[in-house]
Amino acid sequence: MKDSLLLFGAGQIGMAIARRVGADKKIFVADKKIENAKNIAKIMAEAGFDTVAVECDISNRDSIKRVIDQAGEISMLVNAAGVSPSQAPIEVILKVDLVGTAMILEEVGKVIKRGGVGVTISSQSGHRMLALTPHQDFELAMTPADELLALEFLKPENIRDTLHAYQMAKRCNVKRVMSEAVKWGHRGARINSISPGIIVTPLALDEFNGPRGDFYKNMFAKCPAGRPGTADEVANVAEVLMSDRGAFITGADFLIDGGATASFFYGELRPDPAN
Ligand SMILES: NC(=O)c1ccc[n+]([C@@H]2O[C@H](COP(=O)([O-])OP(=O)(O)OC[C@H]3O[C@@H](n4cnc5c(N)ncnc54)[C@H](O)[C@@H]3O)[C@@H](O)[C@H]2O)c1
Repeated sequence: MKDSLLLFGAGQIGMAIARRVGADKKIFVADKKIENAKNIAKIMAEAGFDTVAVECDISNRDSIKRVIDQAGEISMLVNAAGVSPSQAPIEVILKVDLVGTAMILEEVGKVIKRGGVGVTISSQSGHRMLALTPHQDFELAMTPADELLALEFLKPENIRDTLHAYQMAKRCNVKRVMSEAVKWGHRGARINSISPGIIVTPLALDEFNGPRGDFYKNMFAKCPAGRPGTADEVANVAEVLMSDRGAFITGADFLIDGGATASFFYGELRPDPAN
């Protein structure tokens, strides 16, 4: 029987990665919106992939477990489910992007096959937020997923807006990958994260048309690459990480943003060049 690839998030980035690495796998395409899962499963099936569409809300642990229970032997994980700052309120961003990702890494980490490999999609947004204290970083990395939202600095009164919630979630993703890589390593498995910049997908198009639209358009116009990226370029990175060429890479995060973060700190995109 074939091993399975679990794809959480039936969006453009998830599909691009699954197409690159999933040719010989049974691919479970899991999404909260079953119509998205069916749509991506169909496109992939018509391109020769073996896919099954399943409904799953990653902010619910039982829902994640139900996908895992159906999947048999799991050798690959691609977590590309998420909501952006313009798509959801603070509580939903924290429950989905922050806690949901942490639960997926915990649950899949318990069953991943020896030699298995996974990637989860974080964001450049987490790289822009100023440093947290070492203790806060430790808490993001190590607190059991179900207790994360009880951390003082993640309480609603300490989150300014949806962008701040998203940045916290994405910072947390990177820290979770580091701590989970240790546990995954005990099973001979690897897990890494990828932090994309602006990648044209329905999620990014919502941002272009949302309250921060001009900010995002300016960001890609002025970044060193001078354009937004594509999901296939994210898949280029994932393919290396998930292949044998990435065998020595685990617990790491890879920024792929056309240089936008570099420019944010040291170039034209600096928010306050006087400082
Ligand atoms: N597109 C970008 O510019 C960009 C940049 C940085 C990071 N990201 C991250 O990449 C990931 C994928 O985004 P994308 O651009 O491919 O978006 P997308 O909108 O194409 O896909 C995201 C999918 O996640 C699903 N989803 C949302 N909430 C869910 C939940 N609770 N449970 C299960 N599925 C859920 C949506 O229904 C959607 O199908 C997200 O984590 C996003 O934060 C995207």
